[in-house]
Amino acid sequence: MAERTFVMIKPDGVGRRLCGEIMRRYERKGLRLVGLKMSILDRGLAERHYAEHVGKPFFAGLLEFITSGPTIQMVWEGPDAVNAVRKINGATNCQQADIGSIRGDFGINTQKNLVHASDSVETARREMALYFADSELWDYTMPDGHWLAEA
Ligand code: CMP
Repeated sequence: MAERTFVMIKPDGVGRRLCGEIMRRYERKGLRLVGLKMSILDRGLAERHYAEHVGKPFFAGLLEFITSGPTIQMVWEGPDAVNAVRKINGATNCQQADIGSIRGDFGINTQKNLVHASDSVETARREMALYFADSELWDYTMPDGHWLAEA
């Protein structure tokens, strides 16, 4: 199976009507959407998602922000999907993110940075399992799939 990564559009991305723009960028890279849902995160799930940041000075603000409105959860699949999505997203701090990346083009700062994506294949496995049952991730073929495969 090709590499998969977890992506979440944060409340600022949904609130600023940027969902289509964000998804378009993963699609045009040739990644395949295999899971999609929308939810307002409850505090418990947000704490589990961001467990590695417990105790950091920005943790309380991060929880408040991420639970403040609707978010979109997605799983994208393709060659080197984890790194591809991280490059498309740009640096965590939007003021340092390259122009041409989602955060460089639209983001405000380190908190209002529009998207979250897994930082490794292992993290992707953990994050996908937090939001999706295996039965909610889809396998299907696309007519241009052979152009987008590595081999
Ligand atoms: P994300 O990719 O969702 O992963 C952890 C999040 O914590 C990160 O994006 C930022 O939104 C947030 N974050 C990381 N560092 C800081 C910081 N120094 N100040 C505020 N928020 C931060």
